[in-house]
Amino acid sequence: MTQSSNVTWHEQSITKQERRERNGHHSLVIWFTGLSGSGKSTIANELARRLYENGVQVYVLDGDNVRHGLNGDLGFSDDDRRENIRRIGEVAKLFTDAGSVVITAFISPFKEDRSQVRTLLGADEFVEVFADCSLEQCEARDPKGLYKKARKGEIKGFTGIDSPYEEPDQPEVRLDSSAKNPAECAEDVLRYLQEKNYIR
Ligand code: PPS
Repeated sequence: MTQSSNVTWHEQSITKQERRERNGHHSLVIWFTGLSGSGKSTIANELARRLYENGVQVYVLDGDNVRHGLNGDLGFSDDDRRENIRRIGEVAKLFTDAGSVVITAFISPFKEDRSQVRTLLGADEFVEVFADCSLEQCEARDPKGLYKKARKGEIKGFTGIDSPYEEPDQPEVRLDSSAKNPAECAEDVLRYLQEKNYIR
C-alpha cells in the first residue's frame, strides 16, 4: 500500500470476512483485458447478469463509462493509460473490501500495469480474463468506427494500430472471443469461477 504523509489508515468496524459471510460469496476482481472490439464489455455485462441472477453482489466498471467521470481528465498516452489502470485497480480494491465481485472491462494494454493490480488485490482475488480476438476481427467488427478513424490518422495512438497491446502470458481464463459468442464466453468464465470455488 502506498502511504501518504500525515494521513492515517482507519480500520473498518465491519470486516471483509463478515461481509463475505453475509453475501455468501467471495469478493474478487474479474479483470477483462483485450483490444477494442474484442467483446470485453459485452461479455462482462453478460457475466454480470448471470452472477446477479445467482444472488451475487456484482458491479461492472467499464472503460468508456469510467472515462466519462472518475478518469475524465485522462487521455490515451502511455502515462494516462497507466494512471487509468492504477485508479481502476484502487477502485476495484474498494469494491472487494466492500464484499463485492467487480468486473472490469478496460483494454489495460500493459502487462506491468495489470501485474501491479494483481499485486494490489492479491493473487486469490484477481482473475485475469483475456478476450482473445485477433486485430483483424476487431477491426472488421469496428463497432464504434474507431479503427477506421485510426487508419485514416484521425485518432492517434489507437491500441493495436499505433499503440501497443501486450497480451497476457498466463491469464486465468483465455476466451476465444473471435469464435465464441458473448454468452458462451460468459459461460466459460462462470465455469472457471465455479471450479475454483469462488461461487457456487
Ligand atoms: S486503456 O488503454 O485501458 O486505458 O483504455 P480504456 O480505458 O479501456 O478505454 C478504451 C475505450 O476508449 C475508446 N478509445 C480508445 N481506445 C484505444 N485507443 C485509443 N486511442 C482510444 N481512443 C478512444 C474506445 O472506445 C475504447 O473502448 P472499447 O470498449 O475498448 O472498445
